[in-house]
Amino acid sequence: KIPVWLDCDVGHDDAMALILAAYHPSISLLGVSTVAGNSSLKNTTANTISVMQAAGIKGIGVYKGASRPLVKPAAYAGDIHGASGLAGTALLPEPDFATYLSEDTNAVNAMYRAIISSQVPVCVVAVGPLTNIALLISMYPQIIPKIRTLSIMGGAVALGNVTAAAEFNIHFDPEAAHIVLNSGIAHISIVPLDVTHTVLTTKNVIRRIAESVPVPRFAQLITDLLLYFSSTYGGVFGMGDGAPLHDPVAVAYLFMRNAFVERYVRVDVDCSAGHGQGRTYCDMFGRTGKPPNCWVATSVDVEQFWNTMLEALVAASKE
Ligand code: BDR
Ligand code: CA
Repeated sequence: KIPVWLDCDVGHDDAMALILAAYHPSISLLGVSTVAGNSSLKNTTANTISVMQAAGIKGIGVYKGASRPLVKPAAYAGDIHGASGLAGTALLPEPDFATYLSEDTNAVNAMYRAIISSQVPVCVVAVGPLTNIALLISMYPQIIPKIRTLSIMGGAVALGNVTAAAEFNIHFDPEAAHIVLNSGIAHISIVPLDVTHTVLTTKNVIRRIAESVPVPRFAQLITDLLLYFSSTYGGVFGMGDGAPLHDPVAVAYLFMRNAFVERYVRVDVDCSAGHGQGRTYCDMFGRTGKPPNCWVATSVDVEQFWNTMLEALVAASKE
């Protein structure tokens, strides 16, 4: 099994990333850390825990990380995820902080401990702003060779979704993304918007989930969340059938890399305060002459992804 640490800002698509990471048979989930992004740290932490309870994910510690970006003020994604960060259902349990939240230390120290004490290098998947990961490698640079792969959902080759230029996770904390991309971690990959916008929660996909997940209450919770996500995407982006389910695609990268087409290129983050703030400049034609630092996914086998996601949802409903 691949040892994996998940860093997230739950979030509708983060919730699916959490379920996939917890239930895919080739992953051993070491821990979960939370970060401010889609909503406040308080909300993303509460959402993480209530999703874990609803999905029967037990015995995995949750650790609170950064409550704001390194430099910029926080700007949440309430238009997409609602004020709570996970709106659209009445079926989420009240978070049981006492059981799930490890308050002995923070996310950065917890990640350090888990990774440094692992017998084999650990994969880290980051599906929120990169604040916690930037703090981890800044405070504990000795961790860098112990990270096998850092799989990031973030950035874009072409499209922006928070400005014309930038994707949300990178735009929320560009300085953190800059630190991470220049860290020297041996294998950094990004699953950018260009790819996640092909993985859509279409009516067909939602129907398939509703029909396959055997426990009606859990099936309802998942379809509530995906329908809410689809409707906010419809309202904000004018998308027709379904919303891009970004985050679990970066989890899938860890165990089905052969389902992706990717390129190893130079990626630089725009940390200016101008129009390009938070943009990921992906040097697809090698024009900068700078050495590559990042695997950029350019496509994914969408059918293979949904089959795997569905299996994880079915497994979660049985717990
Ligand atoms: C990313 O931003 C968040 O709103 C989603 O959870 C995803 O991680 C997509 O730009
Ligand atoms: Ca996210």
